Amino acid sequence: MKSGAKLTMEGLLLKAAEIAENGFAVDSNYARNLRENRSLISMFPEASRVLLKADMSPYAEGEILRLPDLAKSYRCIAEQEDWFYKGDYAEQMARWMRSNDGQITAADFHRYQPIPREPILTSYRDYQIVGFPPPTSGGVQVAQILNILENFDLADSFKHRPAEAYHVIAEAMKLSFADRTRWLGDANFAPVPRGLMSKEYASQLAKRINLFAVSSVDTNGTPPNLTTDVFQKHTTHVTAADGEGNWVAITATINTSFGSKIIIPGTGIVLNNTLDDFSAQPGAPNAFGMIGGDANAVEAMKRPLSAMSPTIVLKNGEPVFTVGAAGGPKIITQVVMAIVHHIDGKLSLADAVRHPRLHHQWLPNKLVVEKRFHPGIRKELSKLGHDIEEIERAAIVQAIQRTNENELIGIADSRVPGKAIGL
Ligand code: DON
Repeated sequence: MKSGAKLTMEGLLLKAAEIAENGFAVDSNYARNLRENRSLISMFPEASRVLLKADMSPYAEGEILRLPDLAKSYRCIAEQEDWFYKGDYAEQMARWMRSNDGQITAADFHRYQPIPREPILTSYRDYQIVGFPPPTSGGVQVAQILNILENFDLADSFKHRPAEAYHVIAEAMKLSFADRTRWLGDANFAPVPRGLMSKEYASQLAKRINLFAVSSVDTNGTPPNLTTDVFQKHTTHVTAADGEGNWVAITATINTSFGSKIIIPGTGIVLNNTLDDFSAQPGAPNAFGMIGGDANAVEAMKRPLSAMSPTIVLKNGEPVFTVGAAGGPKIITQVVMAIVHHIDGKLSLADAVRHPRLHHQWLPNKLVVEKRFHPGIRKELSKLGHDIEEIERAAIVQAIQRTNENELIGIADSRVPGKAIGL
């Protein structure tokens, strides 16, 4: 960091409080989320009071949603250091839990500590990649997929044989998700092998990719130094960069839309449902169709396995771009897609973010492509044996690029409303 931040946490919270209190126009994405979750939200009285209109209908695009309780909470957090974890909020939350057979206590909140963890550093071609370590699988998987892809001349195949490029990318994604299922979890509880990110292991995995047909990935691979070199004790998507060389990439999650739909009365604060990020039992898929094993089994004090992948990319040691996303397991694959479309496909980062993308998470064994994906390439992928499923849009990617002239370009994914701003 070249110098300290100029915006204070307190100032930002007070600004957020003002927006929550005055209300904001619901955009098309928020309106869709409300519409699609209306019946679930309506099962929870406080969420219905806060998020639905008096007649229990959802706010439509352009209508103003005011969140005065949340505004109060933001002010309390700004003004009282301990309000959330050790003060009134923890007490209110505990009271709600007691009267609703919940299991979280005020002591759990008092005890909560963020765990700082070392970022993971890898490389892709001429670039250095800074990623997020376990308990997200994101950093490890972005690194692993890129390491596998380094074994192929994607720049050439993107130009001359694009179906081959996309086939190789999909196969690399599959291999990595098979490994995730077996090896990844909170590294303070499960020994997550660092070998998952080794270049040698990636080249072994790359050899399993057949350029002319889909390969069957029946199970995970086995990285080197399984027991001797593991990730240990090492912890939303907003991204910002300033003219002094400070870069930030943050992904935050409450998991599915409106989390658990439970709002602690009077606070406006939604409880997450990231318990779904754990593997509830071997082989049982979560909300995103992912399965997991012991490494990500539910345990007291353990943090669930995430897919969050905030990534900063350096060249010659200086940040040149950053990407991150929201979208469950697609976070990982869409961060990779943006990186390879930019570095190998030679698209500007803005075009790389906009470009139609694909996703494979091993199970279910489907190649997911966005509706806008090139029909000719899609046909060729299908001939190679991919079972293709079409979706409206994959994850939502946010990015910043620094140009050779040292300008910063903010890139907001046009898949949802939103904009990049310069202050
Ligand atoms: O941490 C995770 O991997 C999930 N809780 C992320 C869920 C997500 O991104 C939902 N959608 N936009």
